[in-house]
Parts: sequence; structure tokens; C-alpha cells
Amino acid sequence: MKKILTWVKPTGNGMHLGNYLGMYKPFIENSKWKEGFLFIPDFHSLTSVHDKETMQKNKRRLLIEVFSLLPEESDIVVFEQSKVRRINDITWVLSSVTPYSLMLRAHSFKDSKNKNSDTNMAVFNYPILMTADIITYDVELVPVGNDQKQHIEFARDIAENFNKTYKKEVFKLPEEHIEKEVWIIPWTDGKKMSKSYDNFIGVFDDEKLLKKKIMSIQTDDTPLEEPKNPDTCNVFALIKFFASEQRKEEVRNKYLAGNYGYGHAKLELLEILLEYFKKPREKYAELEKNFEYIEKKLASWNIKANEIADRKYEEILKVIGL
Ligand code: TRP
Repeated sequence: MKKILTWVKPTGNGMHLGNYLGMYKPFIENSKWKEGFLFIPDFHSLTSVHDKETMQKNKRRLLIEVFSLLPEESDIVVFEQSKVRRINDITWVLSSVTPYSLMLRAHSFKDSKNKNSDTNMAVFNYPILMTADIITYDVELVPVGNDQKQHIEFARDIAENFNKTYKKEVFKLPEEHIEKEVWIIPWTDGKKMSKSYDNFIGVFDDEKLLKKKIMSIQTDDTPLEEPKNPDTCNVFALIKFFASEQRKEEVRNKYLAGNYGYGHAKLELLEILLEYFKKPREKYAELEKNFEYIEKKLASWNIKANEIADRKYEEILKVIGL
């Protein structure tokens, strides 16, 4: 039984298959959690987005996506970082037990500094806010990709520093959950998935765009007639995750038999994805016209998140002597 916090960050491109497979699916399918939180780190967008319209547009799209994928019956609480009143107060307290030298080691900060010598302080402080996002709710498990692994280590270090400083187990030490097979999928360009390459396939991309992206997946130049190896093919790497067992076997046999081109496999992948995400994609169209439903639900869930954060904050104040 673990408390899990999963998350999707609002970016312009929406939720992609990597987010879905790495963070969303294991979370939804994991029946072992006590309480599941689905968290929207919208404050974190401020490290790069400084335009009101873009901010609103990205977030609205992401919320519609998240709600389209939520199971009908669940105890999951979806909440927004920016609506948690005490999150920055908790971050401030945590910053006082965070060594500067630890923050200097953050890959995210180093990368940003290499690209832009005048990187902003939000980029620098962001692992502390991320720590607060996790440990405020006593979360034990956080699904992440390799790029966030270090941040979870920081969260553990910072939580432990606090507990040791005040000689009290105020915070649980969180662990990361990494879906290993997902993070080594070669995406459309044959490279590993990365925010810096535009090689994602969006769960809710419209059909035309979805097709275009799938058609651009890199394959080798084995002639049509010849047998092909499904296990080294970027298209099959994705089919594997979304097709039924039976269909997977059928496609595998087609690869091995020859006279089956990569173009065929790509169209098959398109069909498989449209089928797999049929219901969420329909729901997306509905929710787009009924955003008030989302706003109402969120408002009540934000209250729950605030109750937990307020309680934790009271405990923290007592422990630090204020
Ligand atoms: N740092 C994550 C990213 O940039 C987003 C994030 C913020 C997060 N707070 C979090 C992820 C808490 C997991 C848990 O992609």
C-alpha cells in the first residue's frame, strides 16, 4: 500500500505517449495505493513560460486531457500546485535545510545555465518546490522518467535533512518509480524520448497529425518483400505497448513473413492507437465543450489538497518553533 503522486506538466504539446506509459498508466493500474494524487505542476511552468495566454492555453488543454483519461470510478484527487496556499511557505522552510552545494549539482540547473548564462532563480529553486510538492502529502512513490530521478533523490535528502535537524519524522522519504521499458523506446526519430527533440506522439493529437508523426517514424530500408525483424523496429516498439496480445502476435508474424512493409506497420499502429484511445478521445471532444465540469471538480479536489497541506504546515510551524 503506497501513497502515489503522479503528474503531468502543462506544456504546449500536450500529453504524449511517453507521459501516458511512464506516469499515467502505471498509476491508474496500480491498485496498491492508499491515496492517489494526480498533480498539475503549473507553478513549475514559470521556469519557461511568461505569457498569460500561453499559460492558460497550455493548462486548459492539459486539464481536458487529464480528465479525459480519468477512470469513471476512482479515489484519485487531481489538484493544481498553484492553488495550494501553503506550498511556497513549505518550500521556504525546506530551503533552509537545503545545502546550496546540493542545488548546484542539479542537472536541470546545469543544463539551463549552459544554454542561458542568465538563467532564472525559479530554475535554481525548482527542486525545492518539487520536494515540497511531494513530501507535503506524505507521498511514498513518484512515477518519473530518468530526467527527474535526481530530483527525487534531492527530495529524499531534503526531507531527511529536515527530520534530522528537528529530530522528528515529519516527512516521509519518497521513492521514484521508473518504467524502464518505456524510457528506452526509440521514438519517431529513433532517438530516446527527450523534451529537447520534437519526437513525441501526442495521445490527443488530431488524426491527421497523428498519422503524419507515425509516418515519420524512422525505419531501415529492408525491401518490402523481405522478412523484417519486429524486435529492432521502432514501429513495433510502440505497437507492443498498445496492441492486444493476439494482435501483437499477428503483427509479429506479418513482419517475419515478408511482403509486409513498414508503411503497413505504421498504418496498423495508427489504427491500434486510435482504437486504444477511442473513449478518452471522444471524452476529450465532450469536455472541450464542458470545461465548467472540470473547474468544479478541480475546485473541490483543490480543497482536499489544501486541507492536507494546511495540516502539514501547522505541524511544521510547531516543530520549527514558530
Ligand atoms: N520537475 C518536473 C518536471 O519539470 C515537474 C514536477 C514538479 C514534479 N513537481 C513535481 C514531478 C512533483 C513529480 C513530482 O518535469
